[in-house]
Amino acid sequence: MNDLMKLLNIDVPFLQGGMGNVSHPDLAVSVSEAGGLGTLGAGTLSPSVFEKMVKEVRSQTHKPFSINVPLSVHPDVQKILSIAAKHHVPVVSLSAGNPSPYIEMLKKENIIVMCVVSNPSQALKAEKAGADVIIAEGFEAAGINANDELTTFTLIPQVASVVKAPVVAAGGIGDGRGLLAALSLGAQGVQLGTRLIATEDANVHSNYKQAICKSDASGTVITGRPYKKIRRLLKTTYANQLLEWEKNKISAEEYDQKTDESCHIKGAIEGKLTEGHVNAGQVSSLIEDLPTVSELFQRMMNEARTVSNHLSF
Ligand SMILES: Cc1cc2nc3c(=O)[nH]c(=O)nc-3n(C[C@H](O)[C@H](O)[C@H](O)COP(=O)(O)O)c2cc1C
Repeated sequence: MNDLMKLLNIDVPFLQGGMGNVSHPDLAVSVSEAGGLGTLGAGTLSPSVFEKMVKEVRSQTHKPFSINVPLSVHPDVQKILSIAAKHHVPVVSLSAGNPSPYIEMLKKENIIVMCVVSNPSQALKAEKAGADVIIAEGFEAAGINANDELTTFTLIPQVASVVKAPVVAAGGIGDGRGLLAALSLGAQGVQLGTRLIATEDANVHSNYKQAICKSDASGTVITGRPYKKIRRLLKTTYANQLLEWEKNKISAEEYDQKTDESCHIKGAIEGKLTEGHVNAGQVSSLIEDLPTVSELFQRMMNEARTVSNHLSF
């Protein structure tokens, strides 16, 4: 058991990524019950719906869990954090924005703070501001990505070299080989997004899960570069249409509208892959089945151990 696992009080080194519209109570409970750190994604949830979900997770598991707040995405960050404090949520992850203004208040409530970063200088700043855990997310990852476009393989060792806090690797990890590689690069745990969507326990449409299983090495695309709103999506009819719109220079407002929550819900939850987008990481091409979360974690741990035992150099 490493420092990260001791700090978070988890049995296996897996964290669920905060995923708007996807990281809801069912999946968070499955991850926590399987020994990892389940996460409730605040996304753009209203405070009342978010509070209901926190209570739901609490009523279904006694294991630790976290909430994720994408700072530049949620319209009422303070309110969400106050609800987290009121319900004694043990861990909060802050992403997509400057976490510094929020860390002190969370620490006063004895909440463990994790910050998602995309380069070493952000990692240093977050640690200086009091972050307990640094989650470093590479460009392979699903969903909104940083403009740095650093890959997990180069990002993790850089971050691990400059901070003392435990580092978690995110982006591109979906099997035991990825877990072992991340640990070798200096991480103490991994945060999974795409791989958790392709599980029995995820509450997304089966069209989304099947499309991930079928995708190949060129199965994801980057959209939003002209608007500095980089997003990695599964290459669907809708994603290709977005790229076409980009080529035709639609305005930033139109791009926002065509990638808003309603479009994400259409794609991910209603399975209408021609009408809405779905987030997916490059790891999609390694995913071929839909295990339960518990089966997935056991498999990844076993594979990491086997690969580690057979390394020769
Ligand atoms: C559907 C979806 C929604 C996401 N939403 C968020 C979010 O709200 N906040 C966040 O920090 N990361 C978000 N992410 C990123 C994940 O938390 C995670 O870091 C990422 O998926 C890891 O890369 P992987 O997909 O290669 O495993 C999202 C990812 C997906 C697939």
